[in-house]
Amino acid sequence: MCGIVGIVGCGAVSERLLDGLKRLEYRGYDSAGIATDHDGMIDRRRASGKLVNLATALAADPLPGDTGIAHTRWATHGGPTTNNAHPHATAEVAVVHNGIIENFKPLRDELIARGRQFTSETDTEVVAHLISEQIEAGREPAEAVRVVLPRLHGAFALAILFRARPDLLIGARLGSPLVIGYGDGESYLGSDALALAPLTQRISYLDEGDWVVCTHDGAQVFDRANNPVERAVVAGAVAEVIDKGNHPHFMLKEIYEQPIVVAQTLRSYLQRMEERVTLPIPEFDLATIKRVTIVACGTSFYAGMVAKYWFEQFARVPVDLDVASEFRYRAPILEAGGLALFISQSGETADTLAALRHARAEGQKIAVVVNVPTSSMAREADLLLPTHAGPEIGVASTKAFACQLAVLAALAANLARARGKLAPDEERAIVRHLAEAPAAINQALAYDDAIRDMAHTVAVARDVLYLGRGTDYPLALEGALKLKEISYIHAEGYAAGEMKHGPIALIDEHVPVIVIAPSGPLFDKTVSNMQEVRARGGKVVLISDAAGIAAAGEGCLATIEMPQVHPLIAPLVYAVPVQLLAYHVGVARGADVDQPRNLAKSVTVE
Ligand code: G6P
Repeated sequence: MCGIVGIVGCGAVSERLLDGLKRLEYRGYDSAGIATDHDGMIDRRRASGKLVNLATALAADPLPGDTGIAHTRWATHGGPTTNNAHPHATAEVAVVHNGIIENFKPLRDELIARGRQFTSETDTEVVAHLISEQIEAGREPAEAVRVVLPRLHGAFALAILFRARPDLLIGARLGSPLVIGYGDGESYLGSDALALAPLTQRISYLDEGDWVVCTHDGAQVFDRANNPVERAVVAGAVAEVIDKGNHPHFMLKEIYEQPIVVAQTLRSYLQRMEERVTLPIPEFDLATIKRVTIVACGTSFYAGMVAKYWFEQFARVPVDLDVASEFRYRAPILEAGGLALFISQSGETADTLAALRHARAEGQKIAVVVNVPTSSMAREADLLLPTHAGPEIGVASTKAFACQLAVLAALAANLARARGKLAPDEERAIVRHLAEAPAAINQALAYDDAIRDMAHTVAVARDVLYLGRGTDYPLALEGALKLKEISYIHAEGYAAGEMKHGPIALIDEHVPVIVIAPSGPLFDKTVSNMQEVRARGGKVVLISDAAGIAAAGEGCLATIEMPQVHPLIAPLVYAVPVQLLAYHVGVARGADVDQPRNLAKSVTVE
């Protein structure tokens, strides 16, 4: 979603700001802009669409200035036009903003009544006007911001530039993350560490309600009660990690990284010599957990759905599962002794974060499976369960999903042992199966070319159906989500057995049906559903192992052969063909697979 970069610099900043925005492109956006302070005035360039449009505007009309702010915008209030692009400015201040100012309407009405004129449809512009009013009334910038912040409801990360103050930027955070960077005679603001990667390796994360005054001498942070506070300086992100290597897209690179990152993740959760599963906080008490409530969004939600099967099967613990946006507002019953488990790549998804805070207020223990260890969710967890996928840049989550599954399988086994439901030999078997996952994922990747070659048969479809049973059902949902995101083909995932209660009406020779069916206890049942599709002229793509394909592959439109694996690790392995199919179909249709239209990597608004 929206990205922020700000620099209090010792030399011209517009190029460095543009470079920072390029690093934030992966978050998803539809317009962009930069403002600087030069010759005692605020000046800005903005453009709708991709950053190349902003770069063109800057090349035609360069923007001098040693201090400035920059933004990539993902439209919420008002379309993705140049007028609605940030920074929003008055003569006195320019503002970039992530999040939503929920009370912007009454604020805007109030400002208009006082004669202020608006030039955009955004919620953000009220911030520029409110601060301007304070400056015009004679207040110093910091005082003006201090007065205005309590008037803003909702979620925000703000970076504010002031006219004729090339030594100053002010940032503020409530709900949306904001990072400060420290340089040599310079200071920086960024919506995440990656934005600041080439500028500095010394950063601090603002806490909720913090605001910060950045100058050439560093940064002074204040908490929500306006007391000066220190925030720890930590290591920033490494600039090199975000190139595509020799892959044409980040998505493909990240799919190929899965064997390594899953192995890396499992190292923290398995003791291979002792053949034991373990947690990063071994003393965390899982034995008394009475119920688990899993909450997440998007692909992370489907990882949670796989985990529900595992927790119930292995640990015999009741599990509730919700998408975060529903959980928070449906008055869930959260009894004492419950574990609320949040799954998120970014650790910043607004709905999941709001759900986490609700669960904490209701007395739940909070566990978080998260890929960004410095994220808000990571910092608010009682039990932090990191995935070690490394930065994920492709908007559609791939390697983070695989690592989430690895952590969740290990957590299921830990929970089962703590509850006395896992005999030592069963635990040893789980460790052995999980340890086989990286090699099996590697084997699955070997079918990339075959999947690319058959992708054209799916690329011409208008609708695609994915079917699976058991833990392959969440994979069917994930497959459909991936295809929608990446190729813009309408797709639905269904529990194979449920197909005859609706989607079977859609079946004809134009609707490819992707059946995910590793051989195993549910195979025959899924194959029966597959035959129901075939009997109605449906074209089946069967993803199974050699035994499954030998038994049921005849007459299929295509088959994709996976290695023979234990059912526990099947979701990690079968995720690969599902991802590759979406990727190749997207590429075949000429779609922007790394930055699909309208989507954001990290959704920081509710
Ligand atoms: C967005 C992304 C998805 C991701 C979802 C949840 O929709 O495009 O790839 O699965 O958010 O994000 P999270 O960071 O909480 O896992």
